[in-house]
Amino acid sequence: KSTTQSTPPTPTTTTDVDNPSHPLYRHRRTVADFVYGPILGEGSYSTVLVGEDKKTGKYYAVKKLDKAHIVKNDKVKYVMIERDALSKMNHPGIVRLYWTFKDNRSLYYVLDLARNGELYTYIRRLAPFDMDTARFYAAEILLAIEHIHSRGVIHRDIKPENILLNDDLHIKITDFGSAKIISPDNASKKSDGNYKYKGELSFVGTAEYVSPELLRSEPTLQEADLWALGCVIYQMHAGRSPFKAATDYLIFQRIKNRDLNFPEGFPDVAQDIVEKLLVLEPSERLGSEATGGMDALKQHPYFEGVNWETIWESPAPPLK
Ligand code: ADE
Repeated sequence: KSTTQSTPPTPTTTTDVDNPSHPLYRHRRTVADFVYGPILGEGSYSTVLVGEDKKTGKYYAVKKLDKAHIVKNDKVKYVMIERDALSKMNHPGIVRLYWTFKDNRSLYYVLDLARNGELYTYIRRLAPFDMDTARFYAAEILLAIEHIHSRGVIHRDIKPENILLNDDLHIKITDFGSAKIISPDNASKKSDGNYKYKGELSFVGTAEYVSPELLRSEPTLQEADLWALGCVIYQMHAGRSPFKAATDYLIFQRIKNRDLNFPEGFPDVAQDIVEKLLVLEPSERLGSEATGGMDALKQHPYFEGVNWETIWESPAPPLK
């Protein structure tokens, strides 16, 4: 379309564009640029595979999404939100989205590979965690949530299954398919059009971690992720999620009533922070804007001794 170009395009050779240090390095990728390995996980409309970049030898997690299934089940919106939300993220505690591409059948998201799998597995195997280990993971999750919120996104499905561990046992939060992207003008969330609110119960991720405001059909704000953080901290110390029950209905009853109790031996300082996160009223949760934000949460005695600046470079406590 443009007729203003004064110089003709520079001819390039494949050797140019395949060299990462060359200014014309070809950043785009296609299905054929990877060798696919074992399946890491399967969802209802997606499969995550190991993918090796043929050009660099680097390994990634490639999320392959089935287009026909997505369209048929009306999930197009969620797939697009996941991509848009992930694209905004740039943080060591969150899986990075490197490239997306498609073929006739599928969409592909190329992500950081987190080789040690889900925090969930380690909780099942090792809980209750000792204080140092639980504090370390709680601190990393807090920082990742802080970053997500700073980019105008609410995750809304923080749970141990979505907290992956990399080679060094640091966290990588994944699965932004339930995320909400707050438009820049209402990101401060003081005046988001609450009154046109239609309800969000259609998306509910996992019953056990759902916030009470969602069950009251109020809009979910950033504080929903603080509720989930409280659930994860509880689970690392107790070995089970706080509102477990036989059916989703009974779980929802327990959440709405804040039917919360702590097993024998649950550390006092952990109980205190969990009680301040699992508060029914979102604005009263420790870490909410009204209580002083994430900085106030970081000041809680539970996090005493955490070096917030160096945690990503520091060794993770041994998980054995
Ligand atoms: N399973 C789902 N996503 C993954 C990832 N990014 N790394 C490893 N396993 C995964």
